[in-house]
Amino acid sequence: MAIITNAPRGTQDVLPAQSGKWQYVEQKALDVAGLFGFREIRFPTFEHTELFHRSVGDTTDVVQKEMYTFQDKGGRSITLRPEGTAGTMRAILQNGLLNDVMPLKVSYVTSCFRYEKPQAGRLREFHQFGVEMVGSAAPAADAQTIAVAKTIFDSLGITGLELEINSIGCPECRANYHEALKAYFRSHYEELCETCRERLDKNPMRILDCKNPACAELAKDAPVVLDYICDDCKTHFEGLKKHLEAMGIAYQVNPTIVRGLDYYTRTVFEFVATGIGAQGTVCGGGRYDGLIELLGGQPTPSIGFAMGLERLLLVMEQCGCEFPPDQGCTIYLGSMGEAAALKASELCMRLRDEGFYAECDIVGRSVKAQMKYADKLHAKYSCILGDNELEAGKVRVKRMDSGETEEVSLEADAFIRFIYAGTLDELTDETDGILGSISKIKGE
Ligand code: HAM
Repeated sequence: MAIITNAPRGTQDVLPAQSGKWQYVEQKALDVAGLFGFREIRFPTFEHTELFHRSVGDTTDVVQKEMYTFQDKGGRSITLRPEGTAGTMRAILQNGLLNDVMPLKVSYVTSCFRYEKPQAGRLREFHQFGVEMVGSAAPAADAQTIAVAKTIFDSLGITGLELEINSIGCPECRANYHEALKAYFRSHYEELCETCRERLDKNPMRILDCKNPACAELAKDAPVVLDYICDDCKTHFEGLKKHLEAMGIAYQVNPTIVRGLDYYTRTVFEFVATGIGAQGTVCGGGRYDGLIELLGGQPTPSIGFAMGLERLLLVMEQCGCEFPPDQGCTIYLGSMGEAAALKASELCMRLRDEGFYAECDIVGRSVKAQMKYADKLHAKYSCILGDNELEAGKVRVKRMDSGETEEVSLEADAFIRFIYAGTLDELTDETDGILGSISKIKGE
């Protein structure tokens, strides 16, 4: 097939039949984060390449192998964002947001680009929902951040995700760990891939998340970081556990989690799904207390996470989670003749002003074809306006499911009142729900 009708490998279209699910998930995530005080931030798709080298880290897979980097027409090195934390921190620094009340809490929905080998749940363009909390070093902040992710999963009806936590210590205690890792991997030097041999002296922890099978096998028996962290880091980690327990959030300590990006300090965590294939990590995050300083700001402890929306949707399908139905067509106003078409058009606009999805003929179909179309739209009501109806000022409106009909005035307000009354059952269901909850709270 011609290349122009094939999307590049590792990219995915979201078609109209699916986009409602995306909107639902994104809005839910933003809303839940809002309950914890996070407000949305938007930042550019591309940044200066140096930003990612500095923050994500020169020796990471992301920077070494996966970035979409190019020179723009002005000769600058530009990179499509491989993740959202670096751009968010750049935006915070550039716009002086560190002068605001701390902690600063931001959320985002964003596309990311990584040149990886595509497979189920792993794309070259993918999407993340993420949050970043800037300005608190306390373990309570770690726990609250994790709670945002957990609450999002719960509110979407996702079950079966495991929260795994670990601490990778601070730069001081990690030096000892680096020495232990170097000693271990040096004794297996011949088995390491070319990239990891180079990493050995510079950043041995990166060998632990190398995707090469031989390196991954070696990583299984490598020393674990929890055995090397200092007392302060241990206390922080214990504090996190206590807060998670207080919030009723179940976790497992997984001492092998190190995360694939260099900026992390102390807490790291992942929510992992079994059953969506090898790419089971739906959400990953952690503390990055040194990043803002590394980018030129005042030392500012921070923590955040990002969840992959493609993976999240895979898990939701697998769990059989329910999605709200798309808003169906309320009424199809068919017509015969120009005067009737103009009236149908007028009524449609009025109905839309009231929030109803209304359609009329914009193709010039025969009446029979218009009725077929109304059927395809699954319209709740339909009617056909003609000269006779215009003259009488009334039209027979049909309820498509039962076939019942009713004569309705063509006077716009009366027509709208009829539609309101007909959809009242749906509206009341919702209202009952809210009133029901209020009554419950009041103990009525
Ligand atoms: P990350 O672990 O690299 O962390 O990515 C977060 C999530 O994005 C992963 O758990 C996964 O669900 C999804 N993801 C990553 N790569 C792909 C891919 N190629 N295809 C589909 N989904 C993918 C970060 O990006 C950090 N910025 C998270 C963070 C925020 N840490 C602190 N704040």
